[in-house]
Order: sequence, then C-alpha cells, then structure tokens
Amino acid sequence: MKSQNGVTVMFQPEGRKAVVNRGISLLEAARKAGVTITTRCGGKAGCLMCKVKIANEEATALRPPGDIERRKLGTTLEEGVRLACQAAVWSDVTVQVPEDPLKAAVRRKLEAARRGEEDELW
Ligand code: FES
Repeated sequence: MKSQNGVTVMFQPEGRKAVVNRGISLLEAARKAGVTITTRCGGKAGCLMCKVKIANEEATALRPPGDIERRKLGTTLEEGVRLACQAAVWSDVTVQVPEDPLKAAVRRKLEAARRGEEDELW
C-alpha cells in the first residue's frame, strides 16, 4: 500500500519493491527494498557499477539526469540507462537491475557444469 507522499519503486528481475519518498536516489530505494546494487565509489558517480535500466516510457518517473550523470553515461542515457546513485525517484517506476558480474560468472560455470553432467548421462 502506498503512503500519501510515497512512490513505489519496483526492482526487476527480483520483483522486490519499496515505497519511498520522492527525491531519494534509486540506490537508496534499492537498499530499502533489500535489493543489492554493487558500488565501489559510495554513490559518488565514480565507479559506474550502479547502472540500471528504465523503460523509455517511464523515463519521466525519475528526475532528469544532471551534468555529472550526463557526462558519465553519454549516449547510453538514450537507451534508458541511469546511475542508481544519481537518479532521483519522482513517481512510480520499474527498474531493471543487471545481474552482478560475479554472480553471472558463477551462474555460467554452474550451468556449464550441469550441462557437462548431462552430457555424461547421454
Ligand atoms: S555508486 Fe558508483 S557510480 Fe553510482
């Protein structure tokens, strides 16, 4: 349920959401929702590890990017990429969080191992 001044931020693919105050960053909203977005710079637009994606039709649900975010993201902004530490929530929005690179590598290894086992069965 939505609070009077709150907006709902849905994080996919985990399907977790948080009701937050307008103006907080997507990174803060993710923490509130229990979604991990890896960072190294502490939210200072330095590491670019907090990239998330927003559907074009929802672009206005976030405050427009500032100079720093524009400079860091360049043309990827047009593809809906935003820095979670810089993008401020304005209205209800769904955010696509890319898989953590380390987790992705482990998942690929496990899948390859599983396929190897299946190959042995045939
Ligand atoms: S947390 Fe480092 S760029 Fe956003």
